[in-house]
Amino acid sequence: MCGIIGIVGNSSVQDRLIESLKRLEYRGYDSAGIAAQVNGKLERRRAPGKLRELEAVVAKEPLNATTGIGHTRWATHGAPTERNAHPHIVGRVAVVHNGIIENFAELKAELIATGREFQSDTDTEVVAHLLDAELATGLSPREAFAATLARLRGAFALCVLIGGEDEVILAARNGPPLALGYGQGEMYVGSDGLALGPFTNRIAYLQDGDWAVLTHNGAEVYDASGAPADRPIRTVPSSAVLMEKGNYRHFMEKEIHDQPEGCQRTIAAYVDTLGGRVAVPGDLDFAKLERVQIVACGTSYIAGVIGRYLIEQLADLPVDVEIASEFRYRDPAIRPASLVIAMSQSGETADTLAALRYCTERGMQSAAIVNATESTIAREVDVVWPIHCGPEIGVASTKAFTAQVSVLISIAIAAAKARGRLSEAEEQRLVKVLLEAPRLIAEAIGLEDAIRDIAVEVSKAKDVLYLGRGPMSALALEGALKLKEISYIHAEGYAAGELKHGPIALVDDQTPIIILAPFDAWFEKSASNMSEVMARGGQVVFITDTEGAKHAPAGAKVVVTAPSSDPLISALVMSAPIQLLAYHVAVLKGADVDQPRNLAKSVTVE
Ligand code: F6R
Repeated sequence: MCGIIGIVGNSSVQDRLIESLKRLEYRGYDSAGIAAQVNGKLERRRAPGKLRELEAVVAKEPLNATTGIGHTRWATHGAPTERNAHPHIVGRVAVVHNGIIENFAELKAELIATGREFQSDTDTEVVAHLLDAELATGLSPREAFAATLARLRGAFALCVLIGGEDEVILAARNGPPLALGYGQGEMYVGSDGLALGPFTNRIAYLQDGDWAVLTHNGAEVYDASGAPADRPIRTVPSSAVLMEKGNYRHFMEKEIHDQPEGCQRTIAAYVDTLGGRVAVPGDLDFAKLERVQIVACGTSYIAGVIGRYLIEQLADLPVDVEIASEFRYRDPAIRPASLVIAMSQSGETADTLAALRYCTERGMQSAAIVNATESTIAREVDVVWPIHCGPEIGVASTKAFTAQVSVLISIAIAAAKARGRLSEAEEQRLVKVLLEAPRLIAEAIGLEDAIRDIAVEVSKAKDVLYLGRGPMSALALEGALKLKEISYIHAEGYAAGELKHGPIALVDDQTPIIILAPFDAWFEKSASNMSEVMARGGQVVFITDTEGAKHAPAGAKVVVTAPSSDPLISALVMSAPIQLLAYHVAVLKGADVDQPRNLAKSVTVE
């Protein structure tokens, strides 16, 4: 899940490579590096740690060149040290790589047997050695590159410089995405369109198996068989301005606050406000579906679980939701009259993509709920349902989550309508409820000061337990995930009914128990669980709504009162308090909120 960039430029590329790497840093931040041709010779600058370390290196020792490549790393093979940082230079070759070369061990053994010495512990270095060895046999750079690619197994996106070929970049894609950018006498290649945003909005995407030769005159693209390929150039909306934090300290904070507007945009795309009905894009016939399979990872999976509650309840349509990394390897049974929905903010998550392909190869119809509409997942499905929330930069997902849930609510209503489960009047009522969500989310965000106070206590805890029932059981998982990923506090989310089957053993006076309980069908049972926890000395933070606060059992340490809402949208409204709690705990602990340790935003390796 590294980020790679290459520029064949007319003017100095050093600062532009770094600007692009800033936009790719969400993909990994274990080390960074750039390489360029300086007077026909390959040179590089590298630094372990975040990009600012590399910036300090190039400030002392600039790299003056007009063609170069860059990399920001999420370590897979080899510790995050300088020697393992990309670019890797071997003889005439400099290479940056995103992905995993699965047969690197056998290739490495073979190369060592020919007398080659390795400088790093990475899988990537075999690519540089192989290519250098092919060049040494007298092959041209293109021939040598094609011969090298034929030896590689696994998932890779590569950018390569060849010493002496001053204004050329070679690039290849097998799995992880690679975008080509077309400028004025300049060419760019990068892991996503966002990285190319400052330079051009004319983008083409390489397909799996493609490789390309970039020069000032454009790109020659070849497919896996070596035949010339034409990849359409699209004009994409400029994303340059969308990368700013504005007055916020962190992208995550901004993205939490962006949610009312973001959800409004999402809902506007799925609702015909004048007609008071949902208008879900695509021509899927929900009435003919026998089941829906949602595949996803992490927060997207949790959004899918909330979707299951809503779709089954409203549309009487069976829904399975599964973590993609499990689904793809367990030989799941497939029914033809089913729809697979791949849920993914990035649209590039390797396991979700593989699970999607498993289903489509077996004849299922497919849809994707994605933020990145140019992503691989979006390009492989029958129907794309965009979430329209704009680029999400904070590694911990917030606004994409509520946007995904908003889309799922719309789909639940559309499916219910198509399956004859909703009258027109009932559809209009539900649409009205959905349209209220942005205002209620904004009100819930207004609880920030109170939540900041609670964060002081929670930040001292070693363990935190989140409980809820119904859709709130899924939100309990999300609350725990958010807390652990950015504050490094151990947290668990549970369906509150499971409390007595194990987790209650964790309850003591040191462990905050966060109970999510709006005044819905499950409220009384959640309130009983709260009493059980308090009877055992548990420190309860009760997150409820206005109506729930009136009925809350006495004794909760803290009660957070979100605005009351219809159960259709309560997961949206209740999201803000748990996101804000995780955010403020992380800030109090001095954690790196937007770039938590060991994580990356786009997980393109399994
Ligand atoms: C958590 C988080 C991750 C992602 C997961 C899937 O805050 O962001 O759990 O949700 O890696 O990513 P996408 O949605 O891009 O497939």
